[in-house]
Amino acid sequence: MGLPRVAQFRGGHFLQNPFLSGRTHIQGTPAFLSRRLSTKGSNSNKDQVLSSFTVRPVVRALATQASTMVKAIRVHELGGPEVLKWEDVEIGEPKEGEIRVKNKAIGLNFIDVYFRKGVYKAPTMPFTPGMEAVGVVTAVGPGLTGRNVGDVVAYAGRPMGSYSEEQILPANVVVPVPSSIDPIVAASIMLKGMTAQFLVRRCFKVESGHTILVHAAAGGVGSLLCQWANALGATVIGTVSTEEKAAQAKEDGCHHVIIYTKDDFVEAVNKITSGGGVHVVYDSVGKDTFQGSLACLRSRGYMVSFGQSSGTPDPLPLSALASKSLFLTRPTLMQYNETRDELLETAGELFANVASGILRTRVNHKYPLSQVAQAHADLESRKTSGSVVLIPDGVEQ
Ligand SMILES: NC(=O)c1ccc[n+]([C@@H]2O[C@H](COP(=O)([O-])OP(=O)(O)OC[C@H]3O[C@@H](n4cnc5c(N)ncnc54)[C@H](OP(=O)(O)O)[C@@H]3O)[C@@H](O)[C@H]2O)c1
Repeated sequence: MGLPRVAQFRGGHFLQNPFLSGRTHIQGTPAFLSRRLSTKGSNSNKDQVLSSFTVRPVVRALATQASTMVKAIRVHELGGPEVLKWEDVEIGEPKEGEIRVKNKAIGLNFIDVYFRKGVYKAPTMPFTPGMEAVGVVTAVGPGLTGRNVGDVVAYAGRPMGSYSEEQILPANVVVPVPSSIDPIVAASIMLKGMTAQFLVRRCFKVESGHTILVHAAAGGVGSLLCQWANALGATVIGTVSTEEKAAQAKEDGCHHVIIYTKDDFVEAVNKITSGGGVHVVYDSVGKDTFQGSLACLRSRGYMVSFGQSSGTPDPLPLSALASKSLFLTRPTLMQYNETRDELLETAGELFANVASGILRTRVNHKYPLSQVAQAHADLESRKTSGSVVLIPDGVEQ
């Protein structure tokens, strides 16, 4: 498919790993690569390995005396994109265990839409949305070691609040960004790429010989998921809404692409698999696809329902799983990155696959942070493909 494949031999992989050194070749499965990246020992060691041996000026963290008033997006009431307001907010200084980060790039994710609309409940009201960003550490809290002013770091997940020029974060949620990866690229893959990682490597382990179905194959997560599954040797079937998205999905390793707005995807999958069905469905569309996805599975297949871009799926009686002895899971990245070790392994494997070319990153859309309402409108109306990145106003690219 024109994709850089993981060269495989005896079930292992072979690639150049720029995180370990410019020359080091290492062998093993992606999990092994991740372990190499993570190394044994303390988390700070792992952080050092992940940070790609970049020598950065060690400036001890001192909270500056300057004003900590920044521009951020605030939501005061739930609703459409128009509730996203560009306002001044006071973020304060980092406390013990915390850092302050000046954001260079912020990833837009469908989950931001759920919180804005109230599908998921935000912890406070008003709130600053956003679950992912890459930036430079501008201050560290008292007594904190292992993080320095000037470090380029990324985070994805909790806490919410990345739609901001600067934000305060717990130091243990960030990972150092390898110097070989541009901050905008890093912001386009942290949440989506770590999601792809846990889906194909841990939730259902994709292997050579599997046939898989990925809905919204040209979306932010979908693009990375298809590439990763292809590299693992699976036959990948993707669904998309338009010809344009179909072309992208093919480039991203889909062996078969179904335009589910025109064709019945259950019939198409049945034909492609000669009636056998697929081993796993990765369904992020939810309401519109859920029942059809179950119909596409083979006996003992895995239904991985990890999102609801079209709405929450209708309730399902347990008996619906019985006729094919199906497995059903509703996973989230938070539960697959519960510990710092899991976070470092997931991010390490993701960064390694980006650096080696196994994963092509697609920053297909950029918006100034102040214009995020337009970005939300475009994401919700299916106008976007690949990743959408928000750039804080005034930040040089
Ligand atoms: N469980 C987790 O931990 C986790 C983590 C990350 C993301 N997710 C989920 O993964 C999904 C993808 O997230 P993303 O940020 O990468 O978004 P995305 O896939 O780039 O955008 C959503 C896509 O869904 C498809 N879609 C189908 N019906 C839709 C509808 N009625 N309204 C809007 N979109 C519709 C569209 O693709 P087509 O035009 O091709 O149909 C659209 O481009 C979301 O459901 C998100 O909640 C879950």
